[in-house]
Amino acid sequence: MNVLVTGGAGYIGSHTVKMLKETGKNVIAYDNLTKGHREAVKCDVFVKGDIFDDELLINTIKKYNIDSVVHFAAYSLVGESMEKPCLYYHNNVQGTLNLLDVMLRCNVKKLVFSSTAAVYGEPEAVPITEDFMKNPTNVYGRTKLIMENVMKDYSNAYGLKYTALRYFNACGADEEGNIGEDHSPETHLIPIVLQACLGIREGIKIFGDDYPTEDGTCIRDYIHVNDLARAHILALEGMHEGHASNAYNLGVGNGFSVKEIVKAAEKVTGITINKETVQRRSGDPAILIASSDKIRGSLGWEPKYVDIKAIISTAWNWHKNHPNGFGE
Ligand code: UFG
Repeated sequence: MNVLVTGGAGYIGSHTVKMLKETGKNVIAYDNLTKGHREAVKCDVFVKGDIFDDELLINTIKKYNIDSVVHFAAYSLVGESMEKPCLYYHNNVQGTLNLLDVMLRCNVKKLVFSSTAAVYGEPEAVPITEDFMKNPTNVYGRTKLIMENVMKDYSNAYGLKYTALRYFNACGADEEGNIGEDHSPETHLIPIVLQACLGIREGIKIFGDDYPTEDGTCIRDYIHVNDLARAHILALEGMHEGHASNAYNLGVGNGFSVKEIVKAAEKVTGITINKETVQRRSGDPAILIASSDKIRGSLGWEPKYVDIKAIISTAWNWHKNHPNGFGE
């Protein structure tokens, strides 16, 4: 298998690149490095390039005889997507359309696509199954839903085979400790909490404690990045074995509140942090928990990490050894 990984220098991309290589695939990481980090790419071939650069994409696909693509390259901040929709529609929709065009021109017809729990919006119940109504409440979720629909149409019309993976809350780091999460700015809860443990931040702000949950804070389904990475490999292998196009949720199926995450991080690190409750962050659904029965049944996927403290430990191992991320 010769796999092109767009966004291969990003957080989930780099973990997937490493695992693809470990499972014997030929991996070509492709990233324009606007958000990703060159040091995060742990495979032999890296191409610095943009998904809008047709010529470079075509040359790369031909040179390495690419037969499958895993497409991570996208912007993924919910808040930013509301302030700068143009950026998100351009990059996530137009950019992916461009990549699909190139793939079809080169007769590459297998694609694993990064989608998100944000396609569901505020769900009517939990756990969320794939057939729930798709009603995204933010631009980011809409860009991903648009592309899921486009891929469905391309699948029917042009024989594109795709697997859309709807991630819940990605977190943790590879256990070897040389890659991990490094966003700028960081907006995600677990890295922010761990940066507070390291003294890089004064403390954390809890965005609202008046949600209809037991302790009043939002509940999320936190999934280890290597469990996400493995799902991409199973999806690729499944398509090569003849599986049809499909969309799957990816979460563990357990929910943790913001306060529970803070408490678990304090236990893992042995450090008590300052917390302040502030206003709700707009657009945060109260509870998001995945049903991952579909991917367990179809692809035999199982999360290796189900204990939240074990997940946070892997992230802590990364952050305490790389307090400045890849910038050290
Ligand atoms: N939170 C805080 N304080 C912080 C940061 C986060 O209280 O400083 C809270 C948030 O309000 C939320 C929870 O912690 O309740 C998790 O927040 P994250 O920002 O870590 O993650 P989100 O659930 O907002 O986002 C994730 C993915 C997105 C995806 C979204 C779907 O990162 O890509 O789920 O809803 F779109």
